Amino acid sequence: MTQELTSPSPAPQAPGTGRGPGWWRDAVIYQVYVRSFADSDGDGVGDLRGARARLPHLKDLGVDAVWLTPFYASPQADGGYDVADYRAVDPLFGSLQDADDLIRTAHDLGLRVIVDIVPNHTSDRHPWFQDPELARERYLFRPGKGENGELPPNDWESVFGGPAWTRTDRGDWYLHLFAPEQPDLNWDNPEVHAEFEAILRFWLDLGVDGFRVDVAHGMVKAPGLPDIGHGQQAKLIGNQVLPFFDQDGVHTIHRAWRRLLDGYGEAHGKQVVGVAEAWAPTAERLALYVRPDELHQAFNFQFLNAPWEAGALREVIDASLAATTSVGAPTTWVLSNHDVVRHTTRLGGGLDRARAATLLMLALPGSAYLYQGEELGLPEVTDLPDEVRQDPAFFRGGRTAGAAATSGQNGFRDGCRVPLPWSGELPPYGFGDGGSWLPQPGDWAALTVEAQTGDPASTLELYRTALALRHRLPGLGDGEMSWAPAPDGVLAFTRPGVLCAVNTLGHDVELPPPGALLLASAPVTGNGAAAVLPGDSCTWWAI
Ligand code: GLC
Repeated sequence: MTQELTSPSPAPQAPGTGRGPGWWRDAVIYQVYVRSFADSDGDGVGDLRGARARLPHLKDLGVDAVWLTPFYASPQADGGYDVADYRAVDPLFGSLQDADDLIRTAHDLGLRVIVDIVPNHTSDRHPWFQDPELARERYLFRPGKGENGELPPNDWESVFGGPAWTRTDRGDWYLHLFAPEQPDLNWDNPEVHAEFEAILRFWLDLGVDGFRVDVAHGMVKAPGLPDIGHGQQAKLIGNQVLPFFDQDGVHTIHRAWRRLLDGYGEAHGKQVVGVAEAWAPTAERLALYVRPDELHQAFNFQFLNAPWEAGALREVIDASLAATTSVGAPTTWVLSNHDVVRHTTRLGGGLDRARAATLLMLALPGSAYLYQGEELGLPEVTDLPDEVRQDPAFFRGGRTAGAAATSGQNGFRDGCRVPLPWSGELPPYGFGDGGSWLPQPGDWAALTVEAQTGDPASTLELYRTALALRHRLPGLGDGEMSWAPAPDGVLAFTRPGVLCAVNTLGHDVELPPPGALLLASAPVTGNGAAAVLPGDSCTWWAI
């Protein structure tokens, strides 16, 4: 299917202008998955008060902003991505006052706050869906196929498995790209647009600095909701354009939101950002979401999905930078989030590879997102018993690891959502006083924030040093990079004043030392003539 991009965008600003205007251009933003971060009331579920009390950890870590996953009123059919009231805090997570307090405390600490907005679908308990008259206009209902309408209206499958349609008591069907409890909104309806703009303003008035836009590539479906035709499960990333993802019409919505965010920011003397969770098929399609009149950032899932292999990494880095530079945007790197297997496990090389990948990411030009717990080197928890799992992808995906997960990878998502270990020798490791909603492994005592603090060999201290260097060295963050010559299997590139060398091989590689060593993900040895880069390592050098 070819797609025409009809509306013109303004000419891009000059790329690579260094630390120009726009705090997001080189910000490091930390994702707080609220239910697994810190629990203040002993119910085993993380909450806003718990998160607020732990903000000093993020300040010490050296991040610039926090993204909070949904804490709105929700039946929790999909970890809060099924919102029943976008202006209320779910009692599980606290109150609106708690949200207000958290935002103020973050600002006092110099941290900006981004909240999640979920515009592709609501909860089936949302008042609009509960009212049959309203629902008909504001969601996507269609008659079924077959003699008695007993077959779904088309062949689309839900990202979580099974048909993307559910039949109502009235006999018609409604579309849900995710769980049946998450009916898709009808973005042809102007009331839907108006409501979301009002919701954005509501949270802006509460002081937030930006929004992470959930499923930002999904709101608009191809006219007529055509069949895909090959009975294929919806994959969030792939090389095909699907009739329900990455349709050109979504860009109209992002343009309107950009105007709103900019207008609000100008009126209030701040810069408000939007970051797209858009699983686009190519770097070029993804860059369309960050044209100058659209959102500011889009997670680079191509990078996240790249294997640990020098050629593949170089290719994805080049393609990403070329695409975002062509529209004047910085690239937004990410290695882990609440939907994918943690990169300590996913990259297949344990902590060594994860630490190296992180230093690579933090040396690249642009902004980066960190997912809670990666600074502790947490692995994916792969042995959760079925009885404790809550991810709808697990239940709907037929419980087999090969079924679709939103990551397009092989995992279900509970294993990356296990609550954080803060302190102490035993679960819940300071997460709260009342256990944790998913069990933590018994061998995480050495991974707590407390245990790693002050240990120069720890992953936590590596992150702290890396983030401090990013702030201190003007050559890191936004700006230019160039590849430098390196042996096979090694990636080397320079930023002004800094050289980053990544050894993706499983064994040592010798290099003439490029300068003075700034930071290493693993101990570097050698003498004046040769530096020995250990296998699966990344080093930063002052040049
Ligand atoms: C996004 C979220 C994911 C959620 C899905 C449906 O991909 O990151 O957690 O399940 O949207 O809202």
